[in-house]
Amino acid sequence: MNARALPQVTPLDRGSGIPLYHQIQRQLMDRIRSGAFRQSDPMPPVQEIATLYGVSLMTARQAVRSLCDLGLAYSKQGKGTFVANTKVEKNFRQVLSFTEEMKTRGTTPKSRVLSFRIQTAPAEVRKALKLNAGEKVFRLHRVRYGDNVPLGIECSCLPVRLCPSLLEDYDTTSSLYRALEMRGIFLMTASEVVEVGRATAEDAKLLRVAAKSPVFLFTRISFLEDGKPVEFVKSTYRGDRYKIVNRLTRARSDGSAALV
Ligand code: GLP
Repeated sequence: MNARALPQVTPLDRGSGIPLYHQIQRQLMDRIRSGAFRQSDPMPPVQEIATLYGVSLMTARQAVRSLCDLGLAYSKQGKGTFVANTKVEKNFRQVLSFTEEMKTRGTTPKSRVLSFRIQTAPAEVRKALKLNAGEKVFRLHRVRYGDNVPLGIECSCLPVRLCPSLLEDYDTTSSLYRALEMRGIFLMTASEVVEVGRATAEDAKLLRVAAKSPVFLFTRISFLEDGKPVEFVKSTYRGDRYKIVNRLTRARSDGSAALV
């Protein structure tokens, strides 16, 4: 097992008043968040950190310890320090937008729009959204990033009649759910199916992973308060960046549920 190398480091700003250990911590954190240090990889040894940054062993140790305190790394007795699991938790208790999911993690969301157009609803979408034959939908195809790391690809379809001006007045780099809310459309509930698959060559390129890497395939149908289905989304999320977490409640034998 090789410790992660730190080939290039940004020199510390010794006149900034920001503690040196904190500056090192920020740089290591960026490497964890960008995926340069991967989950379960050993962190560079403190001696190496101290030499590279020209600081004392104590300062280097403090930087690594602070990463452990933040939950980004963990130590194993006698074995060293390792990068913690920083996978995005898919939360199934709330209908969250990608933007909200990223913000709750302190990560900056970004989108790259592959296409945004109006088209006749394909059969699968027509069925899911209970549309009339030949009805038109908006189709928004985006790559979603967290702190500039591509995490998933989403293709959302919504009936044009729900919000006819969307194509002209929605800034596609911003949150779709927020834009809908601002137009009085609130997606209250959703049903989501999760399957596993392998990234196609095209998706792998967009997600910056090897072709055929494991991915989660989500199919979401979102509903308005009155139960009307209005959004059909197919998403592909990186398997190395997401984990599915279910929080379950067991009903007591008298039928009541325990509070969680
Ligand atoms: C999540 C959902 C998608 C939804 C998207 C909207 O990622 N899985 O189905 O379309 O959020 O995100 P935003 O409002 O950030 O555009």
